[in-house]
Amino acid sequence: MAATEITILSNGPVQVEGDFELRDPNGKTFELGGKTTVYLCRSGLSQNKPRCDGAHQKGGFTDDGAARSL
Ligand code: FES
Repeated sequence: MAATEITILSNGPVQVEGDFELRDPNGKTFELGGKTTVYLCRSGLSQNKPRCDGAHQKGGFTDDGAARSL
């Protein structure tokens, strides 16, 4: 496994796993409490951004997340 893996989950959040720091716009680091995996909202529906709170399911967010040329 790479030092950090970022996976776009189908119809859901972005999974970030491994060795990473999550920072706010001012460069301050989020306290992760030892977690090595986080799920970041990409639906815009979470009430706890940047974390996914599961609201994408009720909100009907859909995107298969399939890889393509960026
Ligand atoms: S992706 Fe889960 S609440 Fe946005």
